[in-house]
Amino acid sequence: MKKILICNWKTYLTLDQAIALCEIIAHDDNIIAAPAMPHLAYLAKAFPVINISAQDISSCTGAFGAYTGETPVSILQDIGIDYAIIGHSERRSRKLDNKDTILAKLEYCLAGAISPIICVGESNDDRKNGRHLSVVRDQLQGLPIEQFAKVIIAYEPTWSVGTGTLPSLAEIQETMLAISSSIKSLDNNHHLVYGGSVSAENAKDIITLPGVSGLLVGKAATDAVQLRSILDIIEKC
Ligand code: PGA
Repeated sequence: MKKILICNWKTYLTLDQAIALCEIIAHDDNIIAAPAMPHLAYLAKAFPVINISAQDISSCTGAFGAYTGETPVSILQDIGIDYAIIGHSERRSRKLDNKDTILAKLEYCLAGAISPIICVGESNDDRKNGRHLSVVRDQLQGLPIEQFAKVIIAYEPTWSVGTGTLPSLAEIQETMLAISSSIKSLDNNHHLVYGGSVSAENAKDIITLPGVSGLLVGKAATDAVQLRSILDIIEKC
């Protein structure tokens, strides 16, 4: 199975910078780019080969309608978006996402045929107190993962996202194994990716761990040199 690369560009880039990075990844169909919401429609039209993901979707509706400020699945589908990141730690930690909103978002994705990238991961405190596996299993429990034809689960320890602190390879592997054993129907369309402080220096060690089918990269994916190196590593796997 081809390894996948998800570039979460958060709100780091101008539109012109996002276009320049899309030109680097435009030839590859195993890459998913998640630009800022206002850039989605332009990039989806300009780069039809790239799988484009929203960084979030509305939790209050999946439909067109009178929902000021929301971005429902229907709008995303209309502009050709294939994926949506759900439950990213930067949203969970600001209380913008919780179990209920995540479940609602997944149900809208399911009804609207958007493939979710579901983020899970423990806090520093959870890890220090040995709760990391139960926290991650709990975040996944009750989610309709098996109902999706395509789903990506991203293990992203919150203490590693955006901090430059990488878990040990053994720590990554332990949690990834716990996740895959808690989901019965992981198959070719169900990917398990790692995210949190991935860089050109550590990408190879992580992507070659058993059970890791891809990487979710934030900051390093906004730098053309690092992005090219990570792409190179992914393509050789
Ligand atoms: P980072 O972000 O690579 O900058 O740590 C990862 C993420 O937010 O998914």
